[in-house]
Amino acid sequence: MVYKAVRGMEDILPKDVHLWQWLERVAKRELEYYGYEEIRTPIVEDTALFARSIGEGTDIVSKEMYSFKDKKERSLTLRPEGTAPIVRSYVEHSLDKISPEINLYYIGPMFRSERPQKGRKRQFHQIGVERFGNGTYHTDALVIQQLYHMLKAGFGLDGFEIKLNSLGCKKDKANFEEKLKKNIAKDPSKLCSDCRERAKRNVLRVLDCKKESCKQFLLKAPSVLDSLCSDCKEHFNGLKAALKAMNIDFTETKNLVRGLDYYTGTVFEITHPALGAQDAIGAGGRYDDLVKDFGGLKIDAIGYALGIERLVIALKDTKKIPKPKTIYVAGIGSIGSEPIVKAGIIAETLRMALGRQGGMHIRVITGTKISSLKAQLKSADKAGAEIVIILGDDEISSGELTLKDMVKKEQIKVSSDPSDELIKAIKKRIE
Ligand code: HAM
Repeated sequence: MVYKAVRGMEDILPKDVHLWQWLERVAKRELEYYGYEEIRTPIVEDTALFARSIGEGTDIVSKEMYSFKDKKERSLTLRPEGTAPIVRSYVEHSLDKISPEINLYYIGPMFRSERPQKGRKRQFHQIGVERFGNGTYHTDALVIQQLYHMLKAGFGLDGFEIKLNSLGCKKDKANFEEKLKKNIAKDPSKLCSDCRERAKRNVLRVLDCKKESCKQFLLKAPSVLDSLCSDCKEHFNGLKAALKAMNIDFTETKNLVRGLDYYTGTVFEITHPALGAQDAIGAGGRYDDLVKDFGGLKIDAIGYALGIERLVIALKDTKKIPKPKTIYVAGIGSIGSEPIVKAGIIAETLRMALGRQGGMHIRVITGTKISSLKAQLKSADKAGAEIVIILGDDEISSGELTLKDMVKKEQIKVSSDPSDELIKAIKKRIE
């Protein structure tokens, strides 16, 4: 029997994992600069939690959830997203009363049974943010400001676009849905068959259909922005002015609606051309009614999530991700011999001085097999080592190590005692 990973769920092999680790490290550092605190919630939740918040009529709930019955016949679901579980946790732990203004972040796997393709997986990963307790447009601007600078300065990503829209409050949204339904009812044949179905279940989704016939029809359809009440209009205009003042470029996109029902007011999406059809690397918006809907106080909230798989594609396209520098310490001798013992000690000195205390992104590895110099140099090369430190009987008797620079293809002798000289020689080559 040959086993394979489940379709749409992928292994992240060591050759790629450094990129993921780097992204997660940068994201954590960035989010902590802005005062976000990490939250970890279970991967499995009650099915009703998602059905109620994301919405029965959405693609996620109606077609894409991994739901199953446990031994007690309870319906559970692998989380398709992070917002609903975090709001559940916020209310369950009474944070709405104890700590209503809190900024949270999470990184982890999500599950949606979509048709797999480039940038669309069945197990995928998100870096997400949920910010509770302040419903002003200024908060929206701060959330987008953090996201913009994390993408640009943190990850070094270029070429992305922020699309921005407002769906208005619950009342505005309902009014607009009615208007749109009436407009469609005049001549439903202008829409594709999928959209005719959507118009019944989740009419807003018709707006982001990619089919040419629907796009043409929608050019003349009413705009959500024309249905905003004066408070929502003021909020949206305030946000746009704040983003301009912060020098954050965005594109007002009247057909941006999002595929989850809990949104009200501001919605946004980040797209990148490297992705093709699935071009959203992230998305978010306000959900001012969700805490109350889950039994909490009336607390406003906003958040976003970035898809890590899609970020990886966009970054591979535009940027070289830094890999750790590799130093390989090769002891030549038999087990227990002085060169082997000393190689282990020197490797530890390097980890301490260059990594733990020197803050460099390095790895120091030693050969695990006792083998010849030639074989160890081959292993060092395979491991991508920039530098090999060689330690055999000759080096022990002379007190000088051999430092082989694998990039420049040169070799020097360096005193092993004191080790300062060795550390300086390595730093000079890899810093
Ligand atoms: P979403 O738009 O469903 O929003 O997902 C956010 C991001 O997750 C997408 O833009 C995309 O990058 C990534 N993503 C979604 N589905 C897949 C998939 N099948 N394969 C790969 N990547 C995917 C949410 O999930 C909201 N919870 C975001 C949010 C947080 N809103 C407020 N707070």
